[in-house]
This record gives sequence, structure tokens and C-alpha cells, in this order.
Amino acid sequence: MNIVNSDETVRLKDAALNHLWMHNRDWTEAAEEGGPLVVSTGHGIRVTDTDGKSWIDVNGGYSSVNVGFGRLEIAEAVNEQMHRITYFPQRTTTAPTALLAEKLAEITPGSLSRVFPVSGGSEANETSLKIARAYHNRRGEPERNKIISRMGSYHGATGGVLWLGGTDANSRCDYKPANPGFLYAPHPDPTRCELGGETPSECAVRCAEAVDKLIVENNPSTVAAVIAEPVANGIVPGDEYWPILREICDRHGVLLIADEVVTGFGRTGKMFGVDNWGVVPDIMSLGKGIVSSYLPIGASVVTEEVANHFVGKGNHFRHVFTFSGHPVSAAASLKNIEIIENESLVDNALEVGTYFKEQLEGLVVDHPLVGPVQGLGLILRMEIDISRVELADPLTHEAVSRKLNDCFTKHSLILALYGDALIFGPPLCITKQDVDEIVHAIDLSLWEVEGDLGIAQIG
Ligand SMILES: Cc1ncc(COP(=O)(O)O)c(C=O)c1O
Repeated sequence: MNIVNSDETVRLKDAALNHLWMHNRDWTEAAEEGGPLVVSTGHGIRVTDTDGKSWIDVNGGYSSVNVGFGRLEIAEAVNEQMHRITYFPQRTTTAPTALLAEKLAEITPGSLSRVFPVSGGSEANETSLKIARAYHNRRGEPERNKIISRMGSYHGATGGVLWLGGTDANSRCDYKPANPGFLYAPHPDPTRCELGGETPSECAVRCAEAVDKLIVENNPSTVAAVIAEPVANGIVPGDEYWPILREICDRHGVLLIADEVVTGFGRTGKMFGVDNWGVVPDIMSLGKGIVSSYLPIGASVVTEEVANHFVGKGNHFRHVFTFSGHPVSAAASLKNIEIIENESLVDNALEVGTYFKEQLEGLVVDHPLVGPVQGLGLILRMEIDISRVELADPLTHEAVSRKLNDCFTKHSLILALYGDALIFGPPLCITKQDVDEIVHAIDLSLWEVEGDLGIAQIG
């Protein structure tokens, strides 16, 4: 595709290529691709680049722009707060930060009611882990420090949480040694249950029981917490999983941490992912949708029972980030939550998400490369697997991914295949018409790639 770069675009791309360290790519690779796309405006699910070309950002940032781009009400709330006060003296707080804590206590389930604000999802999980260990320490069980997470989960990039889960061995190969005391349970993926469960229920029960076994085998009195995402990258556990996890944690005196960084604020069609199963965790980590990525903010929210162990002179939680409780981010977050509530974006996530999933399932029939589709609300996954087909001229998975990603670019989608699945986490304001546009572009891309590979078929 020929995009004629304006002088300004060339200048910006040069600046990025010469000096910017971008996420998960290096500058020589970016240069080979003609430099990074520089986006300048956004509205809803679409962004416009510096040459005026419009793109659909299928994942709304990192499944994080829940209300969509371009909500000027948030800009206005930020501007107003900037004009009032931009930070706070030590041992004080501000109106938006106090009101945000109150709001989060209101909308999170059960007795979750004490809010530690941070700057993003990784910090939220770091904070949740520290609270869990400090909680046990204060209860006279300092040896309870092991943390259980599930293989295939992702909980962040900072030094501690980097070692939770295990989505991508490459993301931590440079940072060994691993933190001690981290234990790994199987992931309850009903499409390929590693414990042989043949139905979502069977898989859920087996994988939850594996957590129980892990706790028992590792001496229950040394286990601090289990951390899990309600829906991880579109993998939806069977309905039994979360309630059993809750029961197991209660039985062993282990805290249950729900990482709601992706699933929080409506993405699964409920305000929080755990609301799908009526489970109340002891600690909830929040990020992304808490502010739809307009500014950096996250939070760790704990139940009253947990929080009560941090009261009394000298007993406070020893933990501070300079930007925790930033009033400007808090003002943006309050306005963002107001939009989610006033515009029924949680209901829209369920309705349009269900439609989106059905349309993706329609692609399975026609496209030999496409595998199972999973997900809940607006966090969906569609597998693409070249090992499903026999190729006359075998190509690597990477080569096929590259071809497919080039086709997405040609059809103005910001969407890329990494690994073996396409993940869809669009803004919650997406419409069925937007979905049709996206699915049509994916369909065309698959036809083109499968045509090149000589495996195109009519289902
Ligand atoms: C489930 C989950 N937890 C935590 C994080 C880390 O959040 P952040 O990138 O804001 O630090 C992510 C990021 O993608 C995530 O998906």
C-alpha cells in the first residue's frame, strides 16, 4: 500500500526511529516496515494517522480504551482538575481521589471497599501481592508467602509480577533468576484441557482441583494467595471454576486475588469479570478500563476484612508510589466510569460481543486456518493455526502471520496475529456495523492468504 508521507510524518517517524524505544519491537525492524504509524486523532474505535488515513484499532490500545477514543468530557474533567490542583502535599488527599475510592467501593462486589490507587495494571498486581503477604504477616503467619498463578496468564511486566503466569517464555528470558515462591497451576482452557476434561465443566473442576492439590502439596500454611484473571485472553473457564476456587482458598486460609485489569469495567458484559459467577475475591487488581487509557491509573481494592489488618499505630501498609492517588488521573477515571454507566456500555459489551463472537464463528466454516473461537462479552479469541493444514510449500507460522498481518494493514485494521490466536478487545462502544466491517476485512485477508497458500476452500 502506498501512503504518501507528508514532511511532518517523515519528521515524526525519523524522531521515533532515532530515539524512541517502542513496545516489543526494535527500531531497525520498524524502519524496514517504513517507520511506525504515527496516530494523531481518535474517535470511538477509529484513529487517524498523521497523513489523514483512518484505521480501526480493533483492540482499542491494549484492550484498554473501554469508552473509545475522543471523549472530550474526559479531557474537560482533566482540564478542570489541572486548573484546580495537579498534585498534593504529603499526608493529604484531593477530592477526585477520595471520590474515586468511594465509587470503586460502590461498584466492586461484596465487601471490597478499601482502595489503594496506583499507576497501572502491573503496579496494581504488585500491590495486591504485597498486601497478601503483609496481611498474613500481620496475622502472625509470616511463612505464608507462596503465590499461585496459572500457566498461560499474564499479570504485568514489573520485577515481581513478571514471574506470575507464563504466557510467553520470551517475555522473561532476559530477567532470570525467577522470584522464589511462585507456583503454577494449569489453565482452565476448555478447548484443550491439559487435564483431559472433555467439557468446560469437567475442565473447570479438574483445573480448580489442581489448585487445591498444589496448595496441599506445598504445605497450605506457606501459601499466601492465588491470583487469576476471570477471563484470560478470551479463555473462559467453565462456570464451576471460580466458585470452586473461592471455596478452596477459604478452606486453606489463602487469599483470592482477581486480576481484573482487562476484565474490569464492563469488558465481559458485567462490570467485573467475577460478577459472571457471583464470586467476591479478597483483593481485586484494576487498570486499563478504570480510565480507558486516557491517563495512567490503576488500583488494588481489598475487602474490609483484609483492610482491617492494616489499622493501628505503626501497622499501616508500607507502600508508596509517587503517582499513587494522582488527582488528575482520578478525575479522568471518575468521568470515564460515569460514561460507562450512563451509556450502558456494559450491556453493549454483552450484546455486541455476543454478535461479534457469532460472526467470527462464521469464519471457521470457510477458513481452514481458523480454529476455535472463545470469549465473553468483548474479550474474544480466534485461533489461527497453520499446523491445521497441509501446505505444498511449507511456510513457517511466522511467515503466514506476516502475510496475514500485511493483509490486515491493507484493509486498515490495526490488528496483528502474535502466537496462535487473534485477540479482540475493542472499545465497548463498538456497534454491530463496526463488527461487520472488521469481520469482513478479516474474511478478505484470510481468503487472500489461503489463496496464496493454495488452501482456499468454500465451506
Ligand atoms: C491481565 C493483566 N494484568 C496486568 C496487566 C499489566 O497491566 P499494565 O500493562 O497496565 O501494567 C495486563 C496488561 O496487559 C494484563 O493483561
